[in-house]
Amino acid sequence: MIFISILLLLICQESKNIEINPSKTIFWGPGLKPDKITMRARYIFLQFVDLKGKNLTESPGKDIISVFIQGQTSIGYTCHVWTQILDCKDGSFIVRYKLHNTCFNLKLKIKMKHNNLPILSMEFKGPIYEEECYCPNPSINNWLSDLECLKNYKQIHNDLISFTNVNFDKIRKSIIKAYDRPGSVSLCHYVVQSNKIFRECYGRYVGFKIFMDSILLSITRKVLLPDIEFFVNLGDWPLVPKEGKNYPIFSWCGSFDTKDIVMPTYDITESSLEAMERVMLDMLSVQGSTDTPWKEKIEKVFWRGRDSRRERLDLIDISRKYPDLFNVSITNFFFFKDEKDKYGPGQSHVSFFNFFKYKYQLNIDGTVAAYRFPYLLAGDSLVLKQDSRYYEFFYNDLIPGEHYISVKNDLSNLIERIMWAKEHDQEALQIVKSARKFARDNLLPHNILCYHVALFHEWSKRLKSKIEVLHNMEEVLQPKHSCKCYNADITKTKEEL
Ligand SMILES: *[C@@H]1O[C@H](CO)[C@@H](O)[C@H](O)[C@H]1NC(C)=O
Ligand SMILES: *[C@@H]1O[C@H](CO)[C@@H](O)[C@H](O)[C@H]1NC(C)=O
Repeated sequence: MIFISILLLLICQESKNIEINPSKTIFWGPGLKPDKITMRARYIFLQFVDLKGKNLTESPGKDIISVFIQGQTSIGYTCHVWTQILDCKDGSFIVRYKLHNTCFNLKLKIKMKHNNLPILSMEFKGPIYEEECYCPNPSINNWLSDLECLKNYKQIHNDLISFTNVNFDKIRKSIIKAYDRPGSVSLCHYVVQSNKIFRECYGRYVGFKIFMDSILLSITRKVLLPDIEFFVNLGDWPLVPKEGKNYPIFSWCGSFDTKDIVMPTYDITESSLEAMERVMLDMLSVQGSTDTPWKEKIEKVFWRGRDSRRERLDLIDISRKYPDLFNVSITNFFFFKDEKDKYGPGQSHVSFFNFFKYKYQLNIDGTVAAYRFPYLLAGDSLVLKQDSRYYEFFYNDLIPGEHYISVKNDLSNLIERIMWAKEHDQEALQIVKSARKFARDNLLPHNILCYHVALFHEWSKRLKSKIEVLHNMEEVLQPKHSCKCYNADITKTKEEL
């Protein structure tokens, strides 16, 4: 019996390319509903299934599929569409596409390349809007359900639990006064009224407001937001002490010592909005750009980063004692310049995608939580994560031992954890798979849109003061665009406003 299964295994491996059953391919993703979900880069996941009905777990070869997407503009020209095929090397693929125009009669076909067998064929009358069209869905609830957003976010619930009746008329001035520290605090005060965005910022370094502006602009193009008022902290550190006044401040990073309301970091938000445009690294590209299968990965911890926390230097000390287990180095010295001789020299840049040639990755805090964590989880190496008082919007949904291996804050059990992983290779691989699954279920671009909209929606229900544009606020304008909206409901809503 054992002999027969081994034989079968060998046959399967040999005939890797022809064992797919195309008609059983599993599809999902927002790219399957382009008329309902507008994004710059729309994406579809494909999970291949073999002749026995089992999911493939390895790449069947890079060039196995071809994609054809075509449509017409409102005046009958061919739409300009850019498509990309990402092989996730685990039996799944991502097909993503970007429209440069609003398209009609969009045909979307995916075929097996070698025999032209169709695996997906869809057609949409349209209009299929592109990212920059200002054509908001008048119903936030319909929009949330089109995107299949979660109904409840535990983190949002917990963050907002103490804000049941927020009267900004009573606290607005005190908040501005409490955080009037222009050299160290960068705070922006936003109002969204009638789906228009207004803000006033405080502080010397407020350049990061562009990130908050761009997510608000993108969201309001897609969905009619309720009127809201809120403060955003543009700095790294959360601002509101646990024991302090109950000031509602939205921040990109939370901590056990503070009670800021967390939202997805500017980093993952930017990469979600700008995928296939201005960014290389995003939650999808990282899944399609690793090239070393688990068995061939180098069995060492790989890490690069700047010197923004003492433990990062400690890591260098540890690695020098155990050179066989590490390829780690500091790339830039800024915080501990005087120790450069000891911990340097700084190493040359390594593409993030190449991190995954190594089996073990380390997520170690910088000034606050390390914003690379989502990308590490989506990759195909095992993540060891330093215990930390800092967290992002999704950390509390992760389970140590299931999605990553936890390491003590002072790294004292790092070696022990690496040895465990080396001795439990299959368990480690299972953790890698769960991590990627978590990333696919929670951290993709549409999940990031969902989280913001769910947060603003929830927030709006708790505001008791009248939402008014204050006299020093400037309007954050949508980019000029000649997009036409075709939905009768939208014009109606606009007139009513
Ligand atoms: C096959 O893959 C799909 C998509 O990831 C997943 O939902 C399903 O549970 C997998 N099936 C098995 C038997 O693992
Ligand atoms: C460490 O990684 C870098 C970048 O991949 C590589 O050039 C270097 O040779 C590695 N060092 C060792 C000792 O393997």
